[in-house]
Amino acid sequence: MALALYPGTFDPFTYGHLDVLERACPLFEQVEVTVAINSSKHTLFTIDERCTLIEQCVAHLDNVTVAAFEGLLVDRARERQATALVRGLRQVSDFDYEFRMAFANRKMYPEVETVFFMTSEAHAMISASIVRDVHRWGGDLTPFVPPLVVEALRAKAS
Ligand code: PNS
Repeated sequence: MALALYPGTFDPFTYGHLDVLERACPLFEQVEVTVAINSSKHTLFTIDERCTLIEQCVAHLDNVTVAAFEGLLVDRARERQATALVRGLRQVSDFDYEFRMAFANRKMYPEVETVFFMTSEAHAMISASIVRDVHRWGGDLTPFVPPLVVEALRAKAS
């Protein structure tokens, strides 16, 4: 059973994340969206909110599960016997961080391969931090995140 983990903070889940996931799904038997519980990083949405939102946004993908995880990603990969880690690349500036993370993960657990998916051009400029900023200043969120996430962001503001 070829299992891939798709790790991230997903604060919140964007159309860019969905695009990467939809590209990865046909290539693996199972994909787990591994949602990082990072207690030292302040997030807009709680871990439960992030997981629930992702579950709702990926309901149309039948080989996707969602799980919260705290700790080293490679420990999760080992525990689940995952063969791949999925990450998205939007632009060249992502590469440095992704390269370092992939090498660190390979050093710690060479059995898992990091696989990069290029997002579609339409989503290349979307990041969760831009979404949070647009939300903060009351901008239109509909080009960036699925409708359920727009609703959740609006509910946060009220
Ligand atoms: O969406 P993000 O915030 O870029 O995702 C980063 C994430 C959660 C994938 C990364 O910080 C991570 O893997 N955290 C778990 C801790 C870990 O394994 N760190 C070593 C990786 S270099």
